[in-house]
Amino acid sequence: MSAPLLEVRGLSAGYGPITVLFDVSLTVNPGEAVALLGRNGTGKTTTLRTIMGLTDLRAGEVVFKGHRLHRRPPFEVARLGVGFVPDDRRIFGELTVEDNLLLPTRWAGRRNGFWNLDRVYSLFPVLAQFRKLRAGALSGGQQKMLAIGRALMLNPELLLLDEAAEGLGPIIVAELVKVLAEVRASGIAILLADQNLHFARRVADRAYIIDRGTTPVSAPMAEIWANEELIRQYLTV
Ligand SMILES: Nc1ncnc2c1ncn2[C@@H]1O[C@H](COP(=O)(O)OP(=O)(O)OP(=O)(O)O)[C@@H](O)[C@H]1O
Ligand SMILES: [Mg+2]
Repeated sequence: MSAPLLEVRGLSAGYGPITVLFDVSLTVNPGEAVALLGRNGTGKTTTLRTIMGLTDLRAGEVVFKGHRLHRRPPFEVARLGVGFVPDDRRIFGELTVEDNLLLPTRWAGRRNGFWNLDRVYSLFPVLAQFRKLRAGALSGGQQKMLAIGRALMLNPELLLLDEAAEGLGPIIVAELVKVLAEVRASGIAILLADQNLHFARRVADRAYIIDRGTTPVSAPMAEIWANEELIRQYLTV
């Protein structure tokens, strides 16, 4: 088997005096879609932020394509090929849709690859339609699409997605599932942090469960889906 794209080993991280992650370990192979599942406050967002260099890593290792990401600033992590779609989207509401798509390519520099403005617009026709519109005028679902499109513009090899389906209706979620299948078909691996097992199982083949800052379970998605006991223990409220 080829070397993993991302390897997280024994990760610990937190905020000031508070430790949130104690021992998180996970692997994403090239082109794979993996979910990180867990209840509220278990450390999903913190895990993605620590990989991205947005939260201080305290112990353990994050290795991406053989590079240790330890203490690298976020723009450098992006340059190495990690895209991030945060749960709050971080759209610039006063800029146009198109400027939101072009902006990160200015600060991170464009990596060569499949994705460019035309391809992002054909993946999300609604963004093409509203390209000259203020991004703040888009609906929540459209802003999620914009945040994904913006991450694709950097041609990442790994896309980190935080609660991608949160707050979206079933039609938009179905669209998002299709979009992510296309993203994967273009060769991009996905790490999905989500509480929504129904959504995650339509996207990912494999999953880790995170609980109180540790990752006690690693299994194929189908096994997790079939294990009611596991779901009750770690996932349902
Ligand atoms: N900026 C911060 N400062 C202090 N504590 C924080 C901060 N962000 C998160 N936390 C705490 O860290 C813990 C884990 O939060 P995190 O956001 O990583 O969880 P999560 O699994 O993503 O939860 P959710 O499902 O609600 O998104 C929580 O107890 C939270 O209160
Ligand atoms: Mg979160």
